[in-house]
Amino acid sequence: MEVLRTPQEAREFSRQHRRAGRTVSLVPTMGSLHRGHAALIATAAACTDVVIVSVYVNPRQFNVASDFEAYPRNLEADRSLAVAAGAHAVYAPLDPVMYPDGFDTTVSLRRIAAPLEGAGRPGHFDGVATVVTKLLNACEPDVAVFGEKDFQQLAVVRRLVADIDHGTSIVSVPTVREEDGLALSSRNVRLTPAHRAAAPVIHAGLQAAVTVLRANGQAEAARQAFHGVVRDEPEARVEYVSVADPHTLDEIEGPSDSAVVSCAVWFGEVRLIDNLIHGGPGRS
Ligand code: PAJ
Repeated sequence: MEVLRTPQEAREFSRQHRRAGRTVSLVPTMGSLHRGHAALIATAAACTDVVIVSVYVNPRQFNVASDFEAYPRNLEADRSLAVAAGAHAVYAPLDPVMYPDGFDTTVSLRRIAAPLEGAGRPGHFDGVATVVTKLLNACEPDVAVFGEKDFQQLAVVRRLVADIDHGTSIVSVPTVREEDGLALSSRNVRLTPAHRAAAPVIHAGLQAAVTVLRANGQAEAARQAFHGVVRDEPEARVEYVSVADPHTLDEIEGPSDSAVVSCAVWFGEVRLIDNLIHGGPGRS
């Protein structure tokens, strides 16, 4: 397992393999790796010969400084999990390498980045789009793998690579959950025991919303079904629930064959996001 520290090292590693006829994939992460990330790495290993996992807690995508500071970090544990899941290298650049003095570029998307997480976390997707562009340019992968857990991020990345004619193919992986339905997230370790016990209400609420859509219900009835479930959990505070077109993320008003139901819910100081996709092949 190699640890690459600079864009030059990442590029050289990737080019060496590609020159030898091997395909390369990238799994961008902020570390604190869990089974959700492992599923992405396993998918990457099934798609290409060589897998690079990037581990970088990107300061530019945190709109709240305390969230950035509290974000869990453990490169040694991340290396072990990455290698066990099938990675060949970890790209772990330091802040001065990613954003040296004089750094002056922001990659920004408009429509797709505006609602939902973009509205709740101003500047978040500028940070994501900028760092993903840098990671793709450094690692020059054939394939990059992202989770459906961050559905809007996936939509933003797909739009970005299409718009800038980046050659990388984007592959997505379904959300990995705990047995009680809670989506795995690096932020889950910050939940108190009481909040951890309450948090599966998110998945229950999303399921209730999808059940309404599946019964040819209206989007607004689906939103109400979500609120109806989550309202009974006093520890949960809903920031938003959305029933949107999976491609444009425009809110849907009437009935719909295909939609993404997504939400942000607070438990104390911890903000969790999740979604379920309704319609489309192999979906609920
Ligand atoms: P991070 O939150 O570490 O997530 C890295 C990747 O893992 C993302 O594609 C995310 O959707 C996926 N992921 C997280 N939890 C998952 C789960 N339970 N099931 C399946 N996939 C899951 O997302 C980021 O980092 C950053 O924004 C990044 C893209 C690395 C840019 O900094």
